[in-house]
Amino acid sequence: MKSEQPGAAANDLDQVNPSMTAKVGSISDTSENRLEVNSMKMAKVGETPIALIRTSEGVFALDNACPHQGYGLVTGDLGVDGSGDPVVTCQWHNWKFRVSDGVCTVGQENVACHQVHVDDSGEISVTVVEPTDSERLEKLWPSLKAGLENAYVGQVSRDSIRLMDSGATPAEIMAEALAIGAPKSEYGVGHEMALAADCLHLAELWEGDDRALPLIQGLAGIGEVTRDRAPQVVPKADAHISVSEAIESEDADAAMAGVMGMLSRDAEVAEVRHHFLTAVSSHHLSYGHGAIYTQKAFELLDRIGWDKAGTLLPHLATSITYSTREDKLPYMRKPMRVMQGLDFAQLSACADRSETGWTPDELVQTLLTSDAAPFEQCANAVRDGAGIEGLLDAVSIAVSQRLLRFDLGVEFDLDRDFGWLDITHGLTYARAARWAWQLDPGPHTARLAMFTAWLAWDTGRIERRLGVGPTAEPIGLMGKAQTDDIHSVATALATKAMDDRGGSFIVVAHLVKTTQAALEEAEFTRSRLPLMAAARFVEAPRKERFVASAVSESLEFIRTQKPPTR
Ligand code: FES
Repeated sequence: MKSEQPGAAANDLDQVNPSMTAKVGSISDTSENRLEVNSMKMAKVGETPIALIRTSEGVFALDNACPHQGYGLVTGDLGVDGSGDPVVTCQWHNWKFRVSDGVCTVGQENVACHQVHVDDSGEISVTVVEPTDSERLEKLWPSLKAGLENAYVGQVSRDSIRLMDSGATPAEIMAEALAIGAPKSEYGVGHEMALAADCLHLAELWEGDDRALPLIQGLAGIGEVTRDRAPQVVPKADAHISVSEAIESEDADAAMAGVMGMLSRDAEVAEVRHHFLTAVSSHHLSYGHGAIYTQKAFELLDRIGWDKAGTLLPHLATSITYSTREDKLPYMRKPMRVMQGLDFAQLSACADRSETGWTPDELVQTLLTSDAAPFEQCANAVRDGAGIEGLLDAVSIAVSQRLLRFDLGVEFDLDRDFGWLDITHGLTYARAARWAWQLDPGPHTARLAMFTAWLAWDTGRIERRLGVGPTAEPIGLMGKAQTDDIHSVATALATKAMDDRGGSFIVVAHLVKTTQAALEEAEFTRSRLPLMAAARFVEAPRKERFVASAVSESLEFIRTQKPPTR
């Protein structure tokens, strides 16, 4: 049983249970320390405060500190529950605990229950046995699971911190959350999984108590999205199914069966990744989310272990299968015809900017100012020395420029279906395409890079309609991003992104992933613009009126029968 729990086997160092016994009262009629029936009092066993409780059924001892926020149980009420069992109620937030065993009957976590002995003279002694780390872990994992299933952030937070104190790693905790959450993601894994990947990365990068905020932000995102949903049934493994072909034919069940088939025959990571990358680079999917989710899922598996692939990748396949085929939309028909004429085998074989010394300035300006999607100019640049890496440099820098000159008035105009998040995807998409190109270079990932160029150009549609806004002044974190060590700036940005108390999960997810992508793209491009752009996004005011926007859109549609202006 223990070995089935993550972390249990790794913490067998302290298997000796220190214990302490103390006399704490009496039931003798003649004793000054008499504990009356249906009463309770605080006592101490060593340094441990105990709630000593006497009912008509006997004497019981619970930890006095409520597991919720630590207030004393003896300041609460002693009563009975609906079945007639004695319960103690913590008055601060009304959690109730069964006196006989400490089980929480209203609330979220059980309280520790201790051994009581009453001798012949009526003296009560209580023995507190310190659990070993393994015993703590054995109780904490089911509690964390319950917290995740109910999306109780407080419980998840307390249990995660207690688990780490008992030796569990952030990766083990995140793996547990994904095992619960990934199957329950309605149309496959999405932003919650991408946030989990970035948060786990930060939790592993940081130390001590600093690990808690990123870890628990990631866990909270999973809980919020998957709460109360039924798990998807993963079909039987079928090693004969091609995952990329199943996704192409929009057959989610076959795609899942194909993933399990590859895993069941122990396919190499590179082969599995290639199938996913083939699928996500065949089309422009959901603003690039197909590629972004693939990058994040594989990065997550790098951290939690490839043996967990079966809990995550079938649901990534579902997510990609259900992605919007943006390239089929009317506004992409013409650019797609141009793109179909490009020779991606030839482009993927072109020399790279590190060999040619190519610089991106001219292509950046083309992406920013061209009236039509500049596929031909991008292809020419790739042939002229940019290579695919150079193309991605230009995309990252162009998107960063757009973020730095984004007109904040547009963000707050409810009638415009455009905001920060439309542009930030350009940066995270470029980062995902670079990850894909570096691990699996070829015509397919060269095509993916070209899709990122499309998005970098397309996110200028508001500029083309309303004019270019002034470039933001480099103040605050943006100023630091211009001058300071980029890793320290990235840490400050990530901290601010996760501590964004006014932000919903989806906003936190975008802040964190943009910050992470910006740091990595700043390193690849050797430009500070991606980090400055992320700093502006993290610090700027944002619109978060989901209900108001939905009402405005619904009224407009129902009253006029017209779709939103793109
Ligand atoms: S502290 Fe006991 S219920 Fe909140």
